[in-house]
Amino acid sequence: MVFCNFPRAVAYLALCLSLQAAALSFTGPVQSLSDISITELTQLLDSGTVTSRDLVDLYSDRIAEVNAELNAVIEIDVDTALHVAETLDRDRSNGVLRGPLHGIPILVKDNYATTGGFNESLKTGAGSVCLAAGSRPREDATVVAKLRAAGAIILGKTNLAEFSGARGHHVPQGWSARGGQTYGAYVRGQTACGSSSGSGVAAGLGLAAAALGTETGGSITCPASFGNVVGVKPTVGLTSRFGVVPVTPRQDTAGPLARSVADAALLLEVMAGRDVERDNYTAAQPWDSPPRYTEALNASALRGKRIGVMWYEQGIEFGMNYWANKKQIRRLFDAALDDLRGAGAELVDVPFGDHGGADKGLFNIHVPMRNGGDYMLPDLKEALARYYDNMAPDDNADEASTAIQNHTQLLACLREDPRERSAEYSLEIMAAIAEEDEPLGPAGGAEAWAAYVNVSTATGSLLRGPLQEQNLEGLVMYMDLAIVLASAPGLPIVTVPMGGLGDDARVVYEGEGNDDYNLPRVITGAPGMPQGLSFVDEKWTEMDLVGFAYAYEQASQRRWTLAPWVKMESDLDNWTGDRIGEL
Ligand SMILES: *[C@@H]1O[C@H](CO)[C@@H](O)[C@H](O)[C@H]1NC(C)=O
Ligand SMILES: *[C@@H]1O[C@H](CO)[C@@H](O)[C@H](O)[C@H]1NC(C)=O
Ligand SMILES: *[C@@H]1O[C@H](CO)[C@@H](O)[C@H](O)[C@H]1NC(C)=O
Ligand SMILES: *[C@@H]1O[C@H](CO)[C@@H](O)[C@H](O)[C@H]1NC(C)=O
Ligand SMILES: *[C@@H]1O[C@H](CO)[C@@H](O)[C@H](O)[C@H]1NC(C)=O
Ligand SMILES: *[C@@H]1O[C@H](CO)[C@@H](O)[C@H](O)[C@H]1NC(C)=O
Repeated sequence: MVFCNFPRAVAYLALCLSLQAAALSFTGPVQSLSDISITELTQLLDSGTVTSRDLVDLYSDRIAEVNAELNAVIEIDVDTALHVAETLDRDRSNGVLRGPLHGIPILVKDNYATTGGFNESLKTGAGSVCLAAGSRPREDATVVAKLRAAGAIILGKTNLAEFSGARGHHVPQGWSARGGQTYGAYVRGQTACGSSSGSGVAAGLGLAAAALGTETGGSITCPASFGNVVGVKPTVGLTSRFGVVPVTPRQDTAGPLARSVADAALLLEVMAGRDVERDNYTAAQPWDSPPRYTEALNASALRGKRIGVMWYEQGIEFGMNYWANKKQIRRLFDAALDDLRGAGAELVDVPFGDHGGADKGLFNIHVPMRNGGDYMLPDLKEALARYYDNMAPDDNADEASTAIQNHTQLLACLREDPRERSAEYSLEIMAAIAEEDEPLGPAGGAEAWAAYVNVSTATGSLLRGPLQEQNLEGLVMYMDLAIVLASAPGLPIVTVPMGGLGDDARVVYEGEGNDDYNLPRVITGAPGMPQGLSFVDEKWTEMDLVGFAYAYEQASQRRWTLAPWVKMESDLDNWTGDRIGEL
């Protein structure tokens, strides 16, 4: 560890020596930002080895190194972040800590409302240049405000599937007008999946300490899986959705993507809680304040637990062809089962067909957005209208005249602005909620409700049936099945890396054999492509799931078996004297 190898002037020497002394008082190796945990970062900050200002600089440099290739990050607000970091560094040196994320840089998906960026920065567009143009949220999303209150530095916005996939059926996974095509970091040209595409990539590479995503139907779980990171998709209602560009409030949920279960638990602890006035789903929480998820980090948590194992022979493609490598996925899954047994779990096979899962029709609803679900469109229309209420024209923006205040304006802009590529990539979902052709029933109406109950009962019972009948304490499955079954009923999923596809894996592409629109050639399966194992249970069981996920992670250690193909030079271990002058 050499922090002072290039002291440029004698004047810096004293500072440099005191830094080295501080560094020496920190016991333990300084890790790469690709691996380091939030707890370890906090130790480095506490010991004075680095400052939050340094971290903002380092993460900005890392983003600059890889973003041209991966498009993981839409924008960063370095000026604001440095300013906030300086304040937090000062507070820290005075012994004042705001909370468990004091001075920790975090990236958030571009559908989280963020205020306070200097000039034109830190806009909120859900990936859309139209939504971002000329208007600003009046308030931070509740979860963003909670992060800031806990001391986090909001470094910038990550890329995503535009409108979290609720734009049209023919839009590439991980593409947005604001950010371009996101690519994963482990196989050159791989999908990052979606819709929290950039958050999975950014967390995995260490472009920030961690990142926030949102999920409606797979949008945290799949990017966590293909990004070699941990993803927590909380029970709907555990985290407030106020200020998040919505899809359907019946399913939307806000959660973290992080390199370890411990980091994810810490973020979840900060994010969770009631916000009844602004998101009344949070009123359903069965407690006054949520549990402390970091207390669930117990490497023995699986010992003696009855865990149901679900496997769907046919796979669920999501149009991504990754099931071409079923044999390789099954091999990883079997290895994961061995690790679970090794960690003391009692595994109980849950033959899927016994519970009606063989009904192929069921899987036609697997990504309800793609089927224009009968409740999704009314929900989206009403929820988006409420979101616009939080938008104010930006007086400083040149584009003030185009500030989006309602859906008519948004749709017109999506059709006209060439950056939105509407000639190539469709926007029929956004068009449908404008009701130009067919009127939609109300989101609260009987029809939408019946459709929702139908889907959530059909999928939820496949999970709840075995949980109850066989007295199970949790379920484990490949991530795609978790997405299909847990989305509509709003159940929690915690996804953990389970390793990469073997050398015998086939290289396959998104939408292969489907030429009806101009898809970029994005790889959805290949040797070394990361995969995730998902833990699922009843609502509000995140304490259990975090424990199981942690015990599995500790027993298996799969994340560390894979290395990204992109390399970054900016890191803690060659932090040079160049920077010392800036401290
Ligand atoms: C904001 O923009 C103005 C004009 O471009 C520039 O002079 C100023 O430095 C910017 N402020 C920050 C904090 O970036
Ligand atoms: C929750 O809030 C939504 C939107 O603000 C509203 O439509 C709904 O009636 C509320 N539900 C309850 C039970 O208050
Ligand atoms: C960890 O889990 C084991 C097994 O369930 C339990 O016996 C032990 O008390 C737990 N430890 C803590 C600190 O909760
Ligand atoms: C949408 O907002 C624009 C600008 O404020 C306004 O001119 C237009 O009438 C609004 N349209 C609808 C349908 O509310
Ligand atoms: C529920 O779904 C089934 C099959 O998926 C369908 O036959 C039935 O009509 C649906 N019921 C309602 C109320 O939508
Ligand atoms: C940082 O270290 C790596 C490997 O140790 C090296 O390749 C790279 O050139 C170094 N970068 C700088 C800026 O010193």
